[in-house]
Amino acid sequence: MSIAEIFETMEYGPAPESASPAVRWLEERGRTFGHFIGGEWRNPAEGEWFDTTNPATNQPLARIAQGGAADVDAAVRAAREALPAWQALDGHGRARYLYALARHIQRHSRLFAVLETMDNGKPIRESRDIDIPLVARHFYHHAGWAQLMDAEMPGYTGIGVVGQIIPWNFPLLMMAWKIAPALAMGNTVVLKPAEFTSLTALLFAEVCRDAGLPPGVVNIITGDGRTGAGIVEHPGVDKIAFTGSTDVGRIIRVATAGSGKKLSLELGGKSPFIVFDDADLESVIEGVVDAIWFNQGQVCCAGSRILAQEGIADKLTQRLRERMETLRVGDPLDKGVDIGAIVAPVQLQKIGELVQQGRDEGATLWQPSWSCPQEGCFFPPTLFTDVAPSSTIAQVEIFGPVVVLMTFRTPSEAVALSNNTPYGLAASVWTESINLALDIAPRVQAGTVWINSTNLFDAGAGFGGYKESGFGREGGKEGLWEYVKPRWEAEAKNGAASRKDDRKSKPSKDKGRNGGPSLPPIDRTAKLYIGGKQARPDSGYSLPVTGAGERLVGDVGLGNRKDVRNAVEAAHKAGGWARGTAHNRAQVLYYLAENLAARTDEFARRIAQMTGDEAGAEREVDASIRRLYTYAAWADKYDGLVHAAPMRNVTLAMNEPIGVIGVACPDAAPLLGFVSAIAPAIAMGNAVVVVPSERWPLAATDFYQVLDTSDVPGGVVNIVTGKRDELAETLAAHDDVDAVWYFGGAEGSTLVERLSAGNMKRTWVSYGRDRDWFDAEQGEGREFLRQATQVKNIWVPYGE
Ligand code: NAI
Ligand code: MG
Repeated sequence: MSIAEIFETMEYGPAPESASPAVRWLEERGRTFGHFIGGEWRNPAEGEWFDTTNPATNQPLARIAQGGAADVDAAVRAAREALPAWQALDGHGRARYLYALARHIQRHSRLFAVLETMDNGKPIRESRDIDIPLVARHFYHHAGWAQLMDAEMPGYTGIGVVGQIIPWNFPLLMMAWKIAPALAMGNTVVLKPAEFTSLTALLFAEVCRDAGLPPGVVNIITGDGRTGAGIVEHPGVDKIAFTGSTDVGRIIRVATAGSGKKLSLELGGKSPFIVFDDADLESVIEGVVDAIWFNQGQVCCAGSRILAQEGIADKLTQRLRERMETLRVGDPLDKGVDIGAIVAPVQLQKIGELVQQGRDEGATLWQPSWSCPQEGCFFPPTLFTDVAPSSTIAQVEIFGPVVVLMTFRTPSEAVALSNNTPYGLAASVWTESINLALDIAPRVQAGTVWINSTNLFDAGAGFGGYKESGFGREGGKEGLWEYVKPRWEAEAKNGAASRKDDRKSKPSKDKGRNGGPSLPPIDRTAKLYIGGKQARPDSGYSLPVTGAGERLVGDVGLGNRKDVRNAVEAAHKAGGWARGTAHNRAQVLYYLAENLAARTDEFARRIAQMTGDEAGAEREVDASIRRLYTYAAWADKYDGLVHAAPMRNVTLAMNEPIGVIGVACPDAAPLLGFVSAIAPAIAMGNAVVVVPSERWPLAATDFYQVLDTSDVPGGVVNIVTGKRDELAETLAAHDDVDAVWYFGGAEGSTLVERLSAGNMKRTWVSYGRDRDWFDAEQGEGREFLRQATQVKNIWVPYGE
């Protein structure tokens, strides 16, 4: 083709990036890679290898080690050995290493980009301009957090050895999201890249060595899901961080239940892309291109459901089809290519099957007139219209360049459609009205909301899910909490201490005789408290409460599953509580404190009857009043943040309530334990279903009257007495409960964690760990507030 002809047709000529430096890098290593353990390369103990291929050509690139149990064990041991010195290094020392890693990555940025594109199939334009720069930014940003850790996170320490398992869609970027915060907070890591895309992680291993990172701080082991499972199950791992499919996330939730491992999960999505009539159509079209054709649509937060207001839907469909016609699919190394290769044949097949299912279910398919390259894993951009909201392609994560379009009439309908999947990862909202955009953003259940933009990421802004898209955040200050734990918890050993504590809180026989209650017990059978009213237990049974000196001090209702279900329903009806102002919630909490104070003697007497400890009882009521004050104070002060991403944009990191929280209270401190849990939860706008102390529930049932007199709306606090572990089990298995806090033994904690996998509810369990409820650090504070909220990042662009 002559230049004149090219000029005439304006056709793109090929502009390939050279593969040769990457090929040379592979050749120099004999196209064979072992594991990177303790700073050294090691062949797999079991001698098993597999190939990684280039999905654009289906040609093998290199032979990779399949990690077995012995490899995982060696890696965990290396990480453990490296831990003390790494933690002993101060934040500044770790900051220097992270800074060095960032510099080294930048120095090899083109090699990283080409290798990523060859192994994964993503366009070089994306790996070069998006993935790798963001990787470097993550290390720089977290070098800063290492430096500031002591000042900004007092009372917190690293967790220990962290196992990290990542997917293939952003191989190096996901690695950076995992490793940078972990190292910054003083952890050592064992990371497993996805089996389709291990090469850039292995190049990063070389960078770690070149940068002089102490051996064992970062260990990279390769392999498939079996290797991942090996890491998850290894007893020497203190935390698992996973990004990948919801199915595997669920397996990991169950596998780690009861292990004491901290867990963060970043899972799938089916994110809405909401277009209002007044949106700027041209921006919307380019937005859709970014939302669903970026990285071939293999993006967990891809805008895969376009929700268009009726007035704009036809025009949008038409313009979109025209734009799709001009997209270029082909050689990912070609700088002019928009859409590269799907990562592997198995994924290509999965996309094909789901698209066929969409056709079978009656949706209208549209694809451009041109055809994709025949060799390699390519799939054309695809748009479905006439899609029923409940159909498979509207509900299931396709993870390919396939988008469905549905319509709505009103903003409320848009919100309802948006929230009509089990996922909650991201959303984007397109309108010229900032008023409308900022009305919609808080109502969409998603961890990230982009306004007039999409798929923006930054190290300084948190990313992560609501609902079944997982929990925990990556990026931003909010992401750091995933890699730390309170110091007191690090110092309290599991098991032994708590058992000792249990004995401590039991009334001693002596006390029962000598310092016991002076007044006769008031015999009264307490009911349950549901929807702001006292309710008889469904079972018709009651449970005796034994106090000091083995005396019967009262009865409470024996709640069952049905009572819990009723309580959850009542809690859901109390949604107005979250929508009200924080100032109002603060007022209600102060009022609770005031009304409790008015009944100090009565409550102290009641506690003493149960525990036999009169002095302790008074102290407990006083501490409970103070605690209510603390959370009344926090209600309108637990502010979010405004993150500064390096673009014309403000990112509002808002603390939002989680929804309905089920709480199983501790036995120790029957009033203070109860107040310590409900106060932060409701201060942040949640509704609670509380199971009070099983042994000494009467302080909680007496609290009904305090609730009644303090303007707490019905349904915000629901109380079901009975067998604590049975009720906690029902709460943990309930699909409309969004989080469960369990302050009790290891067995119940395990059960709660395991059952939570059903709807991926957030859990906070104590494994019987010694918690001093009177202690201001352990019994109240930011840890409670954090557990009571989830962070939503709302990206608001400004300027041109
Ligand atoms: P996957 O969830 O199986 O793989 C992610 C990572 O988990 C890989 O490193 C894999 O080796 C590892 N893994 C697999 N089974 C494991 C186990 N039992 N225990 C521990 N680790 C395990 O995802 P896959 O099979 O590659 O893709 C399947 C579908 O998952 C995709 O079509 C897509 O819908 C979804 N997906 C979502 C991602 C996201 O970021 N939300 C990323 C990758 C896949
Ligand atoms: Mg590959």
